[in-house]
Amino acid sequence: MDLSIVVNGITFPNPFLLGSGPPGTNARVIAKSYDAGWGGAVAKTISLESAKVVNVVPRYGKLRSKTSGEVIGFENIELISDRPIDVWLEEFRQIKKDYPKHILIASIMEEYEKGRWQELTRMVQDTGVDAFELNFSCPHGMTERKMGSEMGEHPDLCEQVTSWVTEVSNIPVWAKMTPNITNIKEPSLAAVRGGAAGISAINTILSVIGVDLNTLRPMPTVEGHTVPGGYSSQAVRPIALRMVSQLALGLPQDVSISGIGGIENSHDAIEFLLLGSSTVQICTGVMLHGVKMIDELKEGLEKFMTDKGFNSVQEVVGKSLGYFSTHMDLVQKMKAAKRSKAGEASRDNEWGQKDITEKTAELTSN
Ligand SMILES: Cc1cc2nc3c(=O)[nH]c(=O)nc-3n(C[C@H](O)[C@H](O)[C@H](O)COP(=O)(O)O)c2cc1C
Repeated sequence: MDLSIVVNGITFPNPFLLGSGPPGTNARVIAKSYDAGWGGAVAKTISLESAKVVNVVPRYGKLRSKTSGEVIGFENIELISDRPIDVWLEEFRQIKKDYPKHILIASIMEEYEKGRWQELTRMVQDTGVDAFELNFSCPHGMTERKMGSEMGEHPDLCEQVTSWVTEVSNIPVWAKMTPNITNIKEPSLAAVRGGAAGISAINTILSVIGVDLNTLRPMPTVEGHTVPGGYSSQAVRPIALRMVSQLALGLPQDVSISGIGGIENSHDAIEFLLLGSSTVQICTGVMLHGVKMIDELKEGLEKFMTDKGFNSVQEVVGKSLGYFSTHMDLVQKMKAAKRSKAGEASRDNEWGQKDITEKTAELTSN
C-alpha cells in the first residue's frame, strides 16, 4: 500500500520520521534507519560551534511501571550535537547522495544573532537537505546560553529568528516548539508569521525523574548533583496529543504539523495523524525498541487504512478534529440525548399501559 504523503511540497515515502536526538546522531545510524524502512529523519540538532557543547554522564533517567517494570517515562539532560559542523556538512551531503528519495531534515540551533543563524542556514542548505527544523525547544542546558526553549517561550523571538532563517532559506522551514508554555499556539503562530511552513510539537517537558532515597540526590545524578531535564516517552503522549490538536485547530490550514511525543507503535502514531499531524517523529521509542519498530508502524497503519477504507495517509490527517467541542456544548448534547431517550422510553411504556389494539390504531394513518 502507498503510505507516501506530500508535505510542504516534499514527498515523504511514509509519515514516519526519526525525531531529533540519539536516533539521528550521525550518518551511519540515519542510513541504517532508511535501510530499515523509515521515510525520513530529523538529524540531531547542530550549531556552529560544537566545542561549546559538553555532555555529561549519566544523562538519562527512566520512570518504570511499578507493576510491569516497563519504561513509561524518560528524562534526559543531553545537549545538542557535540560533533563539529564540518563533519555534519560532509555527512549531510553523503546521505543525500546515497539516499536521494529519503527525506533528511536538518535541526539547527544558534545564539540570538542574525549573522550566526543565517550563516548556519546557508552552510547546511548547500548540502542538499530537504528542510530545516528550528530547535526553539530544548528545555535544558542550552537555555543557559539563551538558546532552545529560551526562544520558544517568547513569541517575539520565535517570529524574528524564523524570519532570519526564511530570509535566506529556499527549502521549507519547520519550527519545533516547547510544551513548557501556557499556550503553544502563540509562539507557533509567531513562527508562522516569520515564515515557518510547519510546526513540530512537542519537544520534552521539563521534569525531575525522581530522588534516590538512599543518597537523597535527585536523578540523573552527576557528581552528586543534577539539573531538571526533558521528559519524553509514553507518559507525555496525552499532553502532546492535546497540544497537536490545539495547533491543528488554531493554525492556518496550509501550515503542516509534525506530531511528536511518546509514540511507540502504529496505534499511537495514528492518533497523531487523526488529530492533524501529517508526519510523526519518534525519538525515545527508537532508543528503547530500535529502528526495526518501523515494520509494525507501517503494517499497523496499512491495516488501519484498509479496515477503515482510507485510500491515502492524507485522508487520515485531521479526521478526528471535528469531534472537539466546548464543555457547554457537551452538556447541551447530553441533555438532548437524555430527552430523546426519555421520550423513547415513555413511548415504550405506553405500549404496556394501553390496550395494544388502541395503541396500534393511534399509530396508524388510515
Ligand atoms: C536523549 C534525547 C535527546 C534529544 N535531543 C534532541 C535534540 O538534539 N534536538 C531536538 O530537537 N530534540 C531532541 N530531543 C527531543 C525529541 O526529539 C522529542 O521531541 C521528545 O523526546 C518527545 O518525543 P519522544 O517521546 O518520541 O522521545 C531529544 C530527546 C531525547 C530523549
